[in-house]
Amino acid sequence: MKKSVIVLAAAALMFGSQAIAGDVAKGEQAAKKCATCHDMTNAKKNKVGPYLWGIMGQPAGKVEGYKYSSAHMEKAGSIKWDEATMNKYLESPKDFIPGNKMVFQGIKDAAERDDLISYMKTLK
Ligand code: HEC
Repeated sequence: MKKSVIVLAAAALMFGSQAIAGDVAKGEQAAKKCATCHDMTNAKKNKVGPYLWGIMGQPAGKVEGYKYSSAHMEKAGSIKWDEATMNKYLESPKDFIPGNKMVFQGIKDAAERDDLISYMKTLK
């Protein structure tokens, strides 16, 4: 009994300051949908899409050596990839950045997006 209280308190401390507290392990599974086009490792290789290592907290359109579409770059100046912007983008990339070249319909399940974003935050 005591132990579980301590574990809960520790979890609250760890996640308390964050808006999103998804399941990182589930997020890693979800990220397989992205890995065809995105390198998510610290090898930092651009593929069809830019590498996503360290993307959380970065401004959009800034991955070195990647050639973005002009549609992406037009919006990129006003986007910083935090939890809120990434959540909107992953829900529907084509609505968040009309005309961008990421051929991905988005993730409709909010919990899955939370898990994925929590995982993406560990990629640094
Ligand atoms: C079919 C290939 C494909 C898949 C699958 C895909 N992406 Fe992309 N992604 C791209 C391309 C291409 C771009 C560049 C868009 C542009 O320049 O218009 C991009 C851009 C991005 C960006 C913007 C990066 C920046 O520097 O601004 C993020 C973030 C991103 N993708 C995340 C994801 C995530 C997370 C997934 C999985 C849920 C995913 N993508 C699935 C191809 C893909």
